[in-house]
Amino acid sequence: MEPITHTNKTQKSGIAKALKFNPYDPAFRTNPYPIYHSLRSVEPIHQSFRGMWVLTRYADAKAVLRDSRFCVDKMSKNVKHKSYYLNHQNLDRLAQVIDKWLIFLDPPEHTRLRGLISKAFSSTSLQFLRPQIQQIADELIDKVRHRDSMDIISDFACPLPCNVIAVILGVPIKDWSKLYHWSDELSNILDPLRSLEDYEHMNKVVLEFTDYFKSLIAQRQKNPQQNLLSALIVVKEQDKKLSEEEIISVCMLLFFTGEETTVNLIGNGMLALLRHPQQMQQLKSQPTLIQSAIEEILRYDSPIQITTRVATEDVDMDDITIRVGEKVLVALGAANRDPAQFPDPDSFDITRVNNSHLAFADGIHYCLGAILTRIEAEIAITALVQQLPELKLSQDKLEWRNKVAFRSLKAIPVIFKPTNIK
Ligand code: HEM
Repeated sequence: MEPITHTNKTQKSGIAKALKFNPYDPAFRTNPYPIYHSLRSVEPIHQSFRGMWVLTRYADAKAVLRDSRFCVDKMSKNVKHKSYYLNHQNLDRLAQVIDKWLIFLDPPEHTRLRGLISKAFSSTSLQFLRPQIQQIADELIDKVRHRDSMDIISDFACPLPCNVIAVILGVPIKDWSKLYHWSDELSNILDPLRSLEDYEHMNKVVLEFTDYFKSLIAQRQKNPQQNLLSALIVVKEQDKKLSEEEIISVCMLLFFTGEETTVNLIGNGMLALLRHPQQMQQLKSQPTLIQSAIEEILRYDSPIQITTRVATEDVDMDDITIRVGEKVLVALGAANRDPAQFPDPDSFDITRVNNSHLAFADGIHYCLGAILTRIEAEIAITALVQQLPELKLSQDKLEWRNKVAFRSLKAIPVIFKPTNIK
């Protein structure tokens, strides 16, 4: 570590002034990691647009996520404020729904709601899904194996998690594409600079989602099934611990959190493997490496790059005081490339050990779907790598979607050697 002297402190503050954290810059979207490295080495606690603090060191990110002096950023308040600028509409329904999402709740409400749904996401509850996930993956591969090309995103990575959430909640699979489009639209809620039209659109989507789940809940009340939605209805009717409104919000939250993230895990993972043919070959010949490969993908190109918190009191970090009410942007993607935590952080190594990345965050909001998404990605990536011979990228230049929190590719066009259906 470089010692801090007067001269290099002055040089560093000059560089710091020139440094900009701009998640909307197309160059940043294509490759955010050089900017993260510069921020971390020059100004690891960096004040950015609208006074927001950007944290890029692993230790700071972990500390803030575990610190009860920071609460979540109340997104519903921001949404309600935007209604003021609209003439003929309001965003009340959107605000009502996200007000009940775990990611935007603090204790004690967060503790109560998380406790009611977390059992469904435990390892024991999810292992029984393995054969169904395998079947979904195999069917998707069977649809393309006779061809010699595909887009990994639209032909495989998108439909897979959507079908899986549909199975968990007991939503008819025929509706998956409608629900995928709704959740995709809703994922813009994490982007602070969306237009008013986008907010109006998200409000409309939430109204459609609500009507859909109201009618499904009515059907499941008459004919209960073995799935999460029926289990939640039992909690509502027998124990009176959940309202219908909360069930609808939970369903939307699960589609919202469970889809795009897993699409990105499969997509970013396949891109890393395709760009590192030796690692791909190693995984092919040693399929048991898949679990450590998934952890490395989560670290190397994290599907969710940022999250935010708000200080509930003044907090000192290094020689900086983060004042009560100020926002902190925790750059998970940067923390996961911190050389102080991960030796040679920019190299992609599927055998990496001690890989305690922050891709699923930490603390009380640690991802509820971590076990599920690991199972999905394990099955999905194994199916692609093992079942499609001579898989290669068909073009080098790929485009990233215009998202701030999510790191997602528009498409991954690949070629492979066609085979007959098994
Ligand atoms: C690669 C896939 C995934 C990644 C990278 C991911 C990442 C995250 C992160 C970073 C958070 C914490 C956000 C914060 O603290 O502000 C989170 C929370 C959450 N995730 Fe995931 N997630 C993934 C998949 C899933 C899946 C498949 C589901 C469910 C079907 C899910 C459900 C949730 C829920 C419900 C929360 C809120 C937990 C809480 O606030 O207590 N996630 N996820």
